[in-house]
Amino acid sequence: VAEHEISEPTEFEGEIRVAARVIDFLSSGLYKNAAACMKELINNSYDADATEVTISVKPDADLIAIEDNGAGLTREQFVTHFSRVAESHKRDDGERTARGREKIGKIGIGFIAANELCDQMEIFSTCENSTEILHVNIDFGKIRDRSFSTRREQGGDVHKGDYHGEITHDADAADHYTKVYLKRIRETAIDSFVSEADLLGSPSPKSVYGLHESSVLDLLSDLDSWDQMDLYSQTRARIGLNVPVRYLAQWAPSELTSGLSPFTRRAFDTGFKVVYDGTELTKPIVLVQRRNRSLIRELSMEGEHIRVSGYLFASHGALKPKELNGVLIRIRDSAVGEYDATYLGYPQQINALFRGWVSGELYVDGALDEALNIDRQTLRDTHPAYVELRKWFLGELANFFKSVREEMYTQPAERRQQERVQAEKLSFSEITQRVKSAYGEAAASELAEAWDQPAAPQRGRPRRSDLSKSFSVNEIYEIALDVAQSVLSPESAAAYIAELTRRLRG
Ligand SMILES: Nc1ncnc2c1ncn2[C@@H]1O[C@H](COP(=O)(O)OP(=O)(O)O)[C@@H](O)[C@H]1O
Ligand SMILES: [Mg+2]
Repeated sequence: VAEHEISEPTEFEGEIRVAARVIDFLSSGLYKNAAACMKELINNSYDADATEVTISVKPDADLIAIEDNGAGLTREQFVTHFSRVAESHKRDDGERTARGREKIGKIGIGFIAANELCDQMEIFSTCENSTEILHVNIDFGKIRDRSFSTRREQGGDVHKGDYHGEITHDADAADHYTKVYLKRIRETAIDSFVSEADLLGSPSPKSVYGLHESSVLDLLSDLDSWDQMDLYSQTRARIGLNVPVRYLAQWAPSELTSGLSPFTRRAFDTGFKVVYDGTELTKPIVLVQRRNRSLIRELSMEGEHIRVSGYLFASHGALKPKELNGVLIRIRDSAVGEYDATYLGYPQQINALFRGWVSGELYVDGALDEALNIDRQTLRDTHPAYVELRKWFLGELANFFKSVREEMYTQPAERRQQERVQAEKLSFSEITQRVKSAYGEAAASELAEAWDQPAAPQRGRPRRSDLSKSFSVNEIYEIALDVAQSVLSPESAAAYIAELTRRLRG
């Protein structure tokens, strides 16, 4: 025992390796859905300063084309990137593009997201002031099919023969573009792009295909859920939600548009247009004011780690479509996942009624990039920038819920009660008028005085003496019977009750 007490601790150290299996996992099934993969390609066009991207999917998604008029890609850039995926060099020369856009890409795995959609990707690209055309074919099928053992030897890196490229020299020097063609679309992805059915197979789900913008607006504002649309439209909505395209014209009630104009303008000013099967892709956000009651609040914060601007919107009653309920975080101009209905973890039991009424967006600066997980869908809760964002946001939200309660719930209820009393008073004057002509001035003024009490409601509850008080059938009979017995003869009382019954039954 004594020996134990004086012995030195044994030290050990070692190397930690990541199994090739983990790398397989990352490249084979990282994204939540087809839309999440597509948005990576569109965001790449944005980062390449494209002003227009043309996407064609219909009729049967045999081939999906993503063609942009961006800066293009050289053979060297391509080879550098694909010789070691997951290293982005995009920000080596700064955080902004030549056009001044804040770059979205950072992690260096977006290009390869296409492998979840197709077995083959073909790229044509050329840069300005060059006659070179880069033409490559990447065989994702081949990469995926290789056995784990070969992969392990190769350390999981992409190796020779996975792509084949050629350079030709017949480009116009003024041209610049990147055209990406996804071929041999995987069985698992096809439905998301072309299906005219929804997930539940309902007979005729709604579709945005080929619709004019105003019809898209009408369609979206009428939905309980995006699930009521066909899969084609759901995918479009999810892509539009994420990428830096503009908002729909009239995406919010006109009373509120001025509060939202910084965001409308911000999205418009990126000058980035995506034409998807012939119609322009927009954000699928439509804020609908229900029962004439809504509230909007602009938010902004400059913290130690992070800068944020955004808004919160509330409408009376559960927000529709439900996909917009919660808060959407955008890092720079690209969304992280979809709306978070937990509001970054706002305590469940507090303001439970109003949680379903609210939709908001937060535009955050690049500080949150570091907190982004590689699927670009989720954030790490422990990152200091996220911690700061969350703490601030929960305070703002609590405040907003308080205003929603006061301005949209309590006050309107009181106002409605007062209006009801006013209306009753008006029709009561007709009753006193009738009493006056039948039984004289004295009877009428006695009646008017009896009911002329202050009608201030107590938190929505009518007082007994209020004209707005309502009676049940039982209560009416109780009162009428008492009165009949005390002032009428039994025969008159019987006739009176019979007539009353006839009237009450209509
Ligand atoms: N549409 C495009 N136009 C020009 N270059 C592109 C395009 N798409 C991808 N690239 C190039 O390929 C690289 C890899 O893209 P990606 O895998 O999405 O990583 P990241 O966007 O994080 O850099 C980009 O950094 C860019 O150089
Ligand atoms: Mg990218």
